[in-house]
Amino acid sequence: MIKKCLFPAAGYGTRFLPATKAIPKEMLPVVNKPLIQYGVEEAIEAGMDTMAIITGRGKRAIEDHFDISYELEHQIKGTSKEHLLKNIRSLVENYTFTYTRQKQMLGLGHAVLTGETLIGNEPFGVVLADDLCEGEDKGVLAQMVEVFAKFRTSIVAVMEVDPKDISKYGVVKAKEIENGIYMVEDMVEKPSSEEAPSNLAIIGRYILTPDIFSILRTTKPGSGGEIQLTDALKVQAQQNMVIAYKFKGRRFDCGSVAGFVEATNYFFQKFAQE
Ligand code: G1P
Repeated sequence: MIKKCLFPAAGYGTRFLPATKAIPKEMLPVVNKPLIQYGVEEAIEAGMDTMAIITGRGKRAIEDHFDISYELEHQIKGTSKEHLLKNIRSLVENYTFTYTRQKQMLGLGHAVLTGETLIGNEPFGVVLADDLCEGEDKGVLAQMVEVFAKFRTSIVAVMEVDPKDISKYGVVKAKEIENGIYMVEDMVEKPSSEEAPSNLAIIGRYILTPDIFSILRTTKPGSGGEIQLTDALKVQAQQNMVIAYKFKGRRFDCGSVAGFVEATNYFFQKFAQE
């Protein structure tokens, strides 16, 4: 039902310097797989077949990762290591990867607007690869596609967070209409703990209807002087409807060193059992 998934991946990854000086933060490995590949696999599990990646200067390793490497494949063909490339090779062969560059870092809303050329006029998924998610029975995006099938409006994934951490997130004010499904009344990007309308924080999974692009075109810079997706979604909630979905599963904040280490330990346990 939803075929395209947008990956904003132009950010500098300053929290991981010096590791991210010459390597995109999306390429940092959790165990043996780059962060962005986890997001791509989640999108594929949700039925999406086209990955629209917003890159920027210094991000060419992402394009090379989702491409054939003839030399490497030639080198390891027939050796015991050949199987290690099988999974990425099948992603490259069976799915489409498209790219455009965000030339200036003007915020997440600006990154999404930059992707209009890759998405066109259809609903689409958005994955912020920093938020590494593992769904309970199925991936978080797959859960959201099911919610979309019912409501046909933009959907943001939310989770309850500790009030002391709320100022790191977009936060929704919302009314629960079904178990875990909320109608958004208001939303605010990175509020102080006093201003926060709830403890329901947006995490980096969205399904957006394409009218978001025209709203983003007129969205003024907000929190941090950046064009915020949260501000555009707030307009969409007022004009139409936006759903917040409390996903089933866990999320690791791989934008922070602590969250990254936590994810590494968790996925290593799983890896070691395979
Ligand atoms: C972005 C969004 C924010 C959301 C967060 C989730 O913020 O702007 O609304 O809660 O991702 O990770 P960032 O972490 O890029 O500052």
